Order: sequence, then C-alpha cells, then structure tokens
Amino acid sequence: MKISFAPVSAPRSGALAVGVLDGGKLGPAGLALDKRTRGALTRAIESSRFRGKPGETLSVLSPPGVPLSRIVLVGYGDPNKLDELRMQSAGGAVVGHLRQANESHVAAAIDAVKGTKLGTGDMAAQFAYGAKLAAYRFDKYRTREKKDDKPALEQLTVMCADVPRARQLYSNLEKVADGIYFTRDLVSEPANILYPETLAAQAKTLTELGVSVEVLDEKKLAKLGMGALLGVGQGSVRPPRLVVMQWKGAKGKDKRPIAFVGKGVTFDTGGISIKPSAGMEDMKWDMGGSAVVIGLMKALAGRKAPVNAVGVIGLVENMPSGAAQRPGDIVTSMSGQTIEVLNTDAEGRLVLADALWYCQDRFKPKAMVDLATLTGAIIIALGNEFAGLFSNDDDLAAKLLAAGKAAGEELWRLPLGDPYDKMLNTDAADVKNITGERGAGSITAAQFLKRFVNNTPWAHLDIAGVTWTKRDKPTVPKGGTAFGVRLLDRFVRDNYEG
Ligand code: BES
Ligand code: MN
Ligand code: ZN
Repeated sequence: MKISFAPVSAPRSGALAVGVLDGGKLGPAGLALDKRTRGALTRAIESSRFRGKPGETLSVLSPPGVPLSRIVLVGYGDPNKLDELRMQSAGGAVVGHLRQANESHVAAAIDAVKGTKLGTGDMAAQFAYGAKLAAYRFDKYRTREKKDDKPALEQLTVMCADVPRARQLYSNLEKVADGIYFTRDLVSEPANILYPETLAAQAKTLTELGVSVEVLDEKKLAKLGMGALLGVGQGSVRPPRLVVMQWKGAKGKDKRPIAFVGKGVTFDTGGISIKPSAGMEDMKWDMGGSAVVIGLMKALAGRKAPVNAVGVIGLVENMPSGAAQRPGDIVTSMSGQTIEVLNTDAEGRLVLADALWYCQDRFKPKAMVDLATLTGAIIIALGNEFAGLFSNDDDLAAKLLAAGKAAGEELWRLPLGDPYDKMLNTDAADVKNITGERGAGSITAAQFLKRFVNNTPWAHLDIAGVTWTKRDKPTVPKGGTAFGVRLLDRFVRDNYEG
C-alpha cells in the first residue's frame, strides 16, 4: 500500500475516512461532510451502534451530495486519551475495515482534536503508521488466489494541516515498519525454505543499509567451544550458524554498544524428546527471537539511529536422527560450564547459553537483551497479550517496561531468585537444562540463561505467547506479529541515542 500526505481538501472519488470522538461526536471534517450529505453521517450513527469508541468503524456507502464511494467513520474514543497508539489503531482499523471492500484508494481527513497533546502532523503520521502495519500480508505462496479475494486497497492519502511535520515523522516510522515487515516475513516462512543458512543469508542483506554482518559456520563455532549450541543442531542435516550484526551509528565518545540476542531455532521438533504432532507446525516460528533482532537492526539502520547496536542470533534446527543429541548427554558450553541435557526439547536455552556468553565476552555491552520463544509455560502464565520479562537489573527492567507501554507491546516482569537457581543443580554436571519439576517453567528457563550472562546487565523476553497471533488486531494482522521490534526500537530511542 502506498502512503502519502497532503493538505486537507475534498477528495473527488474513492473512500474518505474521518475520526469520530466518544459519544459519536463529529469533528470539523465530519461536521462539514454531514452537512454536505444532508445529515447522512448523523443518521448512520443514530441507526447503528457505532459510538466513536477506539477501533470502532462504520461505513456510509454511496453517501448523497458528495462524489465519494463511501465515508468510513473511525472511532477515536475519549479526546483526553487520544495518544500515538490510539491514532495507530485508528489507521489500522480503517485498513482492516476495508480489507473486504472494493476500494483501491482511501483518503483520511485528520482534524485537530482538543484534549490531546498530539498536533495534526503527529496524528497523521501515527495514523499512517498504523495503517501501514495493518496492511501487511504474507501471500507469496497463494498462487491461485483470485484478484477479488485479495485486499483491493492500494493507496492511502492522509490529509492534515501540518504536512511537513507528518512527512518528517513518518519517514522514521516507515523505517521501523520496514523492520517489522521483514521480521513478519521471516517468521512466516516455512522451515523447508528458512533454515540456518538461508536465515543467515537474509540477515546478510542488512549490509545494504550499512550494517556489518558476520556469519560464523560450524567449524568456527566448534573452535569457539560452543558445545551447547552445536549439540542442539547435530541431529539436523542443516548445519547451524551464528550471525553477528553491528550497527555503528553512535556520534559521541561512548562507543560501548547495546546488545540484542535472539533464539533462532528454525524448526523445533523437540529432538529425541520429540513433541506431539498436533500443533508442531507452529514450531516454524521458533526462530521468532532471531527475526526480531534482525528486524530491529533493520529499523535502527534504516532510520540511521545514533547508537551502537549489536545483534547476535544463534541459528539451529532441532531434529531427531541417528546423529541427534540424546537425553543425558553432557555438553561443554563456551563459558566452560558443562550442561546435562535431560530434555532435548529444552533447546532454546542451550542455544542462548552460547550466544549470550559470546555476546558479552566479545562486546562488553552496556546491556544485553535476549528474545526467545522459550517456554510454553509463559503462555500458561500470560496468554497472548504480555511477553514475560526477566532481568538481573531493575533499572534495565524499568526501561523495558516503559518502552513496552509506550509502543503498545507490553511486558510483565516475573521474578528470579536463588531458590529457582538451585533447582538447576545436578550431580552429573555444572547445570541441567530442565528442573524435572512442574512449577515455574519460564522462571527456571530464565534462571538457566542467567548463568551465562556473567555480570552484564541483562534482560530476557520470553515471547512464546506473542510471536504469532491467530486473530487480527488493529495494527497486527493474524500471523507473525514482530512483537519486540517496536518495543526495542522505542527502548533504544528513549535511552541510548545521542
Ligand atoms: N520452543 C519451545 C517453546 C514454545 C512452546 C514456543 C509453544 C512457542 C509455543 C521450547 O523449545 C520448548 O520446547 N520448551 C519446553 C521446555 C520444557 C521441555 C522444559 C516447553 O515449554 O514445554
Ligand atoms: Mn523445544
Ligand atoms: Zn524451542
């Protein structure tokens, strides 16, 4: 979908969207339209249940007195609560509403709203951003889909009084959207197409944006002593990879980077501790953490963020075979710690153990944030709304919680502590990869990771519940969500730039 900005005018064709406040209250653009249509908008609101609540939409088809195919009313809700996220949702709701419609062009009239701190340029840019995020669709393998079954929308024109401000703001938001699109694409690809080598090749495309990308092959990983990561990959015919991405945009003297580490299990069968077959197809998105790190690096480089950022992703396929790792195997991680692998399905933490250790050892980052579809237990705890947050640093945790709120990708912090840590002790080795008890599965997984971060300020985001959605949301169509890109882009922007 093409998006452009223009001064407010009366469009002569296509669809036109206008915002409506709580209680069905029309703004200036809506009132003018209501007049020209001899009250069609007021009548439509009266005869429907549309009341201008956030995310509500209502179409008035072939309205009288204007040359438009339809007017789309979109709810803004309470003007005092109208913020960036609500404007994004409004843009997304309009795109979602028109998904089944035969409209190729929609214009949106963005009025100033009393009560909000947002100027019209900001409102317009956020509306456009939400629309862009909602317009995402992964349809490259639908080769026989009829044109009538595809969304018709090709063009969005956002009209407002401050076009320069809208364009300037949107030019940055669009780069974040590019990162999000890339992440969603990667998460959606099936595992026969996307495996460690091909995922590494995708990461390599970021060199075009000025990111330096190194791909470490299994020989190199063996040399580094990454026995934990290699053990997970050894059952697959697809060899593992570790990818290191560096964006060097910092202007000041402080060159230490902020680091992001991602779990990239391109398919998780469980290995010899094999998973049940029902739902196993979901495990194509077990590389979601790595895809978020790639998309985030793309966003940061795309908008030329004044920051030094590092992305490290561990890529493996977890398969059962004659060469696969067995329950009871003991591997030696890069940190030197030995790990008893009691369950080959607790593989993400093994991959991250080496990726985290490598990252802090090489880059000495200011802080290190990992993302992983790590545990089913986090879905039991938090469902599909919040991601789990674990951290050894309260300040870092607070920054992430705040960024999550601001970006509309929320985190819920769970505890760490010695009693949980002790559950990972074993007689056979330094640590075991499962506790063997039912409780606190997400916490003990995080506790395992903590043994591999040294003294680095670190946070772990368990994104197993939020990486994929089965339901359309205003700015997130069903499928891969890219949860984490918006959050971490915001986290970097608010805390580490300049
Ligand atoms: N990739 C899974 C976690 C997962 C489950 C992600 C469902 C998304 C949806 C992870 O590798 C895993 O298998 N975890 C096990 C750990 C257990 C063996 C201790 C789990 O959560 O069951
Ligand atoms: Mn697993
Ligand atoms: Zn997994």
